[in-house]
Amino acid sequence: MMVFAVGSRQSRVGRKGKDARGHSLSTADSRLPTTLSSVQRVLIVGATSAIGGAVARRFASEGARLFLVARDAAHLAIVADDLTARGAAQTETFALDLNEIARHGNMLAAAAAALGGLDIALIAYGTLSDQAACEASVETTLQEWQTNATSTIALLTLLANDFAQRRAGTIAVVTSVAGDRGRKSNYVYGAAKGALNIFVAGLRGRLTAAGVAVITIEPGFVDTPMTAHLPKNALFATPDKVGADIHRAILRGTDVIYTPFFWRYIMLILKLVPERIFKRLSI
Ligand SMILES: NC(=O)c1ccc[n+]([C@@H]2O[C@H](COP(=O)([O-])OP(=O)(O)OC[C@H]3O[C@@H](n4cnc5c(N)ncnc54)[C@H](OP(=O)(O)O)[C@@H]3O)[C@@H](O)[C@H]2O)c1
Repeated sequence: MMVFAVGSRQSRVGRKGKDARGHSLSTADSRLPTTLSSVQRVLIVGATSAIGGAVARRFASEGARLFLVARDAAHLAIVADDLTARGAAQTETFALDLNEIARHGNMLAAAAAALGGLDIALIAYGTLSDQAACEASVETTLQEWQTNATSTIALLTLLANDFAQRRAGTIAVVTSVAGDRGRKSNYVYGAAKGALNIFVAGLRGRLTAAGVAVITIEPGFVDTPMTAHLPKNALFATPDKVGADIHRAILRGTDVIYTPFFWRYIMLILKLVPERIFKRLSI
């Protein structure tokens, strides 16, 4: 069963349009001009993630109105309270397993109803696949693909149509440097993120003419619960550093960012290594 719950720090959001599919985000309010100086209406999918949370804190301190989505309702409520204390003008929560693709339209309708439309959507959820478990199981591989690629592509398809209709706004998607080249230690997760990189690039091409910014965010190693089991080294960044880079990219409408910035050069070099050598590397 799907996990479904909606909460608000200012008002309860009802289950209006619960069964609607492909709900439009366009409302009377959404026709208002969007400027970076006005109060931003921000959807954060994966709001309980360390990276998504770091971005949310920056928008909260600017007085943004936030619609927060993840699976864990109790965790979402804690995050929402913290963001309200930090200055968010409004925080709404919606508990949803994003693998319940049939409910995406319902969630977007709730976001539109709660905030009166969206200016920014940040997609920042995912699971770091256990590569060995994936190699041993088709089911596990496909489940990881479902979470990290298929569900995000489904969500982006609805979001893109809504933003295109409004001819404004910003869609930002957290992918990964893992998507730039297939490595033997991480290729199931990497393939899903690589698919997102290509999908998001195409979406950017499609929506540019409509005045919608589409941003690809490629973090390197970040010290979060997702990587808690990995030994740390100097390449690991804090969620706050990565959150600051993402927040800046959203405000500027940058097409593609690597965060921290040096990953652009690491990946440039890695992509130049000939395959006959690359396939033998233990990375
Ligand atoms: N950490 C890194 O080194 C790193 C590097 C590159 C890219 N990234 C990407 O950055 C994003 C955030 O990563 P993070 O490290 O900050 O993650 P994190 O702290 O481990 O949190 C993961 C988030 O994903 C959500 N999530 C997972 N599966 C979900 C599902 N089926 N439905 C709804 N929500 C789901 C979790 O929600 P619940 O808490 O409710 O379960 C949680 O909000 C991910 O896309 C990740 O792939 C991370």
